[in-house]
Amino acid sequence: MRSALSRRNFFHHSFGLAAGGVLLRNLGLTGRGPAIGRSTPLIVTSHPNATGRRAMEVGWEILAAGGRAIDAVEKATNVIEVDPEDTSVGYGGLPNEDGVVQLDASIMDGRTYNAGAVASLENIKTPSSVARLVMDRTDHVMLVGPGALEFARSFGFQEENLLTEKGRLEWLKWRENRGPDDDWGPADHLRGLPETEAGLPGPPTHEHGTVNVLAVDSYGDVAGITSTSGLSWKVPGRIGDSPIIGAGLYVDNEVGAAGATGRGEDVIKSCASYYIVLRMRDGRSPQQACEDALAMIREKYARVNPAFMPGEKFVAINKNGEIGAAWSYSGGRPTMSVRSAAGPDVFTGVNFVTGEG
Ligand code: GLY
Repeated sequence: MRSALSRRNFFHHSFGLAAGGVLLRNLGLTGRGPAIGRSTPLIVTSHPNATGRRAMEVGWEILAAGGRAIDAVEKATNVIEVDPEDTSVGYGGLPNEDGVVQLDASIMDGRTYNAGAVASLENIKTPSSVARLVMDRTDHVMLVGPGALEFARSFGFQEENLLTEKGRLEWLKWRENRGPDDDWGPADHLRGLPETEAGLPGPPTHEHGTVNVLAVDSYGDVAGITSTSGLSWKVPGRIGDSPIIGAGLYVDNEVGAAGATGRGEDVIKSCASYYIVLRMRDGRSPQQACEDALAMIREKYARVNPAFMPGEKFVAINKNGEIGAAWSYSGGRPTMSVRSAAGPDVFTGVNFVTGEG
């Protein structure tokens, strides 16, 4: 009998290990960690990989030429959205349980106090640019599903299949590993034999990655984007935190910006990005504010289930060029790609669970 790799098991496995550690931590608003100020203009992304670094160069070119933060975050995010190797954002994102890629994205412009978002958008590689058009060309904030697709088509976006072969293989593996009570995969008496398993080797990846891109431009204006393909194998139509202003993204031109990745359900319930920006408004550094948000969420869950550790990563910047990042995963520290006049850089934040940082 195959073992069921359910989403809940995945999270409990990952975070159950961590739960003991966190109980030892001071859950008060301690605000540990670095508060590093860089010069502005500045652009950062939660993606520390090569594509994230490349995206920062694209955004930086705009900022360095005196361009607007809102343009820098859009063009930088597009670089990440069209990367077929990235299975958590845009083209190549892992699909829902029906094998369909559905994308969510939001954008917020601190200068104009305006925002746009799309959710459950299919067949368009760059949802953040559609979100920008919702912001710029309508009086609405969010369009979803077929309405969002029609809207994108009306502006000339081409429909494309977003499911890459890599994504399809992962989905097929997931379908065959759902549990003992479905009929996918080889016949019972052939399971586990090398020749029957050869086509779909190994357990499926389970992902909930997302990208945040935040910037301050040379006018002191702040902007941000969050873009994602959402939780892999999600229930069709499920919308995460990324397109919800205040949850997956928030920008306040007088303060700074914050974004979230990780399990969106926790972020929606806590309005986490808004909370982080409010904390910064109250004088907390971006680093302190990101940790404050994790402490707040953890405290709420601890009242109901002390063993449960939600899995989130928060990133934030303020107008002075200070950066923060914190996550509640069981290993390592969160890193971000950064670009300013000082050149490309990496920012390493704090592991909220282990206390590293
Ligand atoms: N944070 C991305 C999602 O949950 O969809």
